[in-house]
Amino acid sequence: MRYFKSVTDIGDLNEAVREAMQVKKNRFAYKELGRDKTLLMIFFNSSLRTRLSTQKAAMNLGMNVIVLDVNQGAWKLETERGVVMDGDKPEHLLEAIPVMGCYCDVIGVRSFARFESKRDDYEEKIFNQFVKYSGRPVFAMETATVHPLQSFADLITIEEYKTKPRPKVVLTWAPHPKALPQAVPNSFAQWMLATDYDFVITHPHGYELSQEFTAGATIEYDQDKALAGADFVYAKNWSAFEDPNYGKVLTTDRNWTITAEKMALTNDARFMHCLPVRRNMIVSDDVIESPRSIVIPEAANREISAQVVLKRILEDLQ
Ligand code: CP
Repeated sequence: MRYFKSVTDIGDLNEAVREAMQVKKNRFAYKELGRDKTLLMIFFNSSLRTRLSTQKAAMNLGMNVIVLDVNQGAWKLETERGVVMDGDKPEHLLEAIPVMGCYCDVIGVRSFARFESKRDDYEEKIFNQFVKYSGRPVFAMETATVHPLQSFADLITIEEYKTKPRPKVVLTWAPHPKALPQAVPNSFAQWMLATDYDFVITHPHGYELSQEFTAGATIEYDQDKALAGADFVYAKNWSAFEDPNYGKVLTTDRNWTITAEKMALTNDARFMHCLPVRRNMIVSDDVIESPRSIVIPEAANREISAQVVLKRILEDLQ
């Protein structure tokens, strides 16, 4: 594997899950694979889980790890060509990327949507420049439009906790005070649609996601109807995708918060969220603390999804 961004980059999902379970049983079995190899993790945004789980996965594989927070301690980076650089950004990404490539063997990139231009966000300008100019394998640690390491971990978690071959999985929008990217729901939809699960998305009108990721999904605007019989409830906020509201918060209606009453509509569903989560906006305290909540094992599986991806990249580097 040279690049990892889409569900199609991982190949057969059953095989990927089998490999994940094998890695989970003995996560130090491939410690020689990463010997004398260096992972550079570049963060344009804050992170807790991605940072720790990916570093841990790399260490399990015997890699050296360098972490760069672009906005803290590095030169501020200009990302656009043609800009007269007389402002506060003394370095251009087009020099910075190949220089970063000189110091490592593999690069992970975290770059959120900026919401300045839907076209720029959905063209993945930052991630694609790393692919084009670094000369190294590059994987997404959440980009402007996708979060595949999260979705792979979500899939592993559902496979571990499902009690029937074809569970009903519901992705529900939930309220949040600030505009959040569509990356997590985009990827989650893409990965769930690649399985044979019964997959339903529910959200208020105006929060339709890109067809690029959701084509073929069942959309139900009535959250209560969507939750009926659900085996897994995956809550997430996202901002509007459709123009002219791209990147805007259209409502913070707390009738969409996942509460015990909402969970009572389900088939005793497991509750999932990628974290970080705003309690009593997205989900009530009692639901996230209940025995049906699997947010912690879900986060723990981030180490496993990252390790499978890094393992495959390293295998192709040998
Ligand atoms: N879920 C997730 O990616 O968490 P962080 O933003 O903390 O990395």
